[in-house]
Amino acid sequence: MDLLIKNGTIVTAKEMYQADVAVDKGKIFRIQQNMDPAGFDEVVDAEGKLVLPGAIDGHTHLFLEFGGTISSDDYYTGTRSAACGGTTTVFDFVNQAHAENMLDAIKRRDAIASKDCAIDYSFHLAVSDVITEGMIESMQECVDYGIPSFKVFMVYDYGVDDGSFYKVLLKAREIGAIVGVHAENKYVNNVLIEKYLSEGKTDAWWHYMAKNEMVEGEADVRAVNLAKMAGAPLYIAHLADEMGMKAVTEARNEGYPIFAETCPQYLHFTSEVYKRERGRDFVCSPPMKNQASQDAIWGGVKNGNITVVATDHCPFSKAEKDWGITKKDGTPGNFTTIPNGCAGIENMYPYMLSEANQGRISFSRVVELCSTNPSKLFGLDDQKGAIRVGLDADIVIYDPEKDFTVTNSAMHGATDHTIWEGLHLKGYPVATYSRGNLVFKDGEFLGGRGQGRLVRCHKLSFNGPLL
Ligand code: URP
Ligand code: ZN
Repeated sequence: MDLLIKNGTIVTAKEMYQADVAVDKGKIFRIQQNMDPAGFDEVVDAEGKLVLPGAIDGHTHLFLEFGGTISSDDYYTGTRSAACGGTTTVFDFVNQAHAENMLDAIKRRDAIASKDCAIDYSFHLAVSDVITEGMIESMQECVDYGIPSFKVFMVYDYGVDDGSFYKVLLKAREIGAIVGVHAENKYVNNVLIEKYLSEGKTDAWWHYMAKNEMVEGEADVRAVNLAKMAGAPLYIAHLADEMGMKAVTEARNEGYPIFAETCPQYLHFTSEVYKRERGRDFVCSPPMKNQASQDAIWGGVKNGNITVVATDHCPFSKAEKDWGITKKDGTPGNFTTIPNGCAGIENMYPYMLSEANQGRISFSRVVELCSTNPSKLFGLDDQKGAIRVGLDADIVIYDPEKDFTVTNSAMHGATDHTIWEGLHLKGYPVATYSRGNLVFKDGEFLGGRGQGRLVRCHKLSFNGPLL
């Protein structure tokens, strides 16, 4: 047998207990106390450490074309960085081109990802065209292929109107899929952009003001209502505002299968960051919101109405962020010419676990939010998302005593700066295994390009109790 992790404390979404974990051929083979180490190729002593399922990052944008450039991390550097933060699976977005069969879009993207990913990966398909003949039908082909998760944008030029959103929801309900949404009111956002620019208001603060609490909240409420009308499950990506949190909570109390994801950046920063000298480095969509919103989403993290924490990792270089001052062509920039997105793929589990280590939530709740719930919601709970016999040996060993300060130079991605610079964390991952292979140990990446596999997910059903 390949590996025995001895004397650690296993953390599941429900409990923590002392046991050894045996791994063979990439799978968790046995969980038992005081296992005999004889016959194992390798024995690791995890005394005083936590043994966790690898995090599943349900929201990344690797190698994304956006704002006149491409996000800094490709599938290799992004997944390398993820592994070093205890993440063993990422869900990246495939953006459907106009009149492109959705399964063809997935295969187009997988041809790039499969060569590069260092850990396992899967996709959500971001729908942009359901009007052209055959497009909506191609959602079924994706589900059959193992991709039962779709997304619509309510904002950006490629965002869909409410009719198309509703059609996607209806289809998802019919075929056993889930629809995620980037909810911001594009029309109000555009009006506010025009107004602020005409008034000479160009810095990063106005990015936040043009995408303020109500710009997101109204779209959250509308998305929830559309899902209710369609009788379909809904996943609100990167929820960052109080009004949206209320709408999700009410819908869930009524029994609707509505799920919300938030991200560490919304739990840690508020809109005050946009007043900083380099506020443009924090420009992402949706932007960080006010304190009341942060309090509301922390409430959801604690009371169960936030179902998933993911990163929305989408970094751009400092020079690209500076396009908010001077554009690529040398003309004056403004908040609309800053590429949207920030780094975070290596920071999610360390940040959330550090919060748990300081008593804000339990370690089990972090496992639930960052691993077990995304595995259930996106249909890979029969493969990943828990320390359980028969599942992939995607395992993180976490040292609750190890202090760590985030610096960009200690990260393993391709980005030249991080919004998390200087953050002190209590506890840190010391080892990550991807299907039983050691890919990270004591600060060093040990995996390799192309070692990740595409995870095919099962069809979804939301008839049981809400996650
Ligand atoms: O700021 C973000 N989130 N950038 C990525 C594109 C998007 O909005 O999802
Ligand atoms: Zn995103």
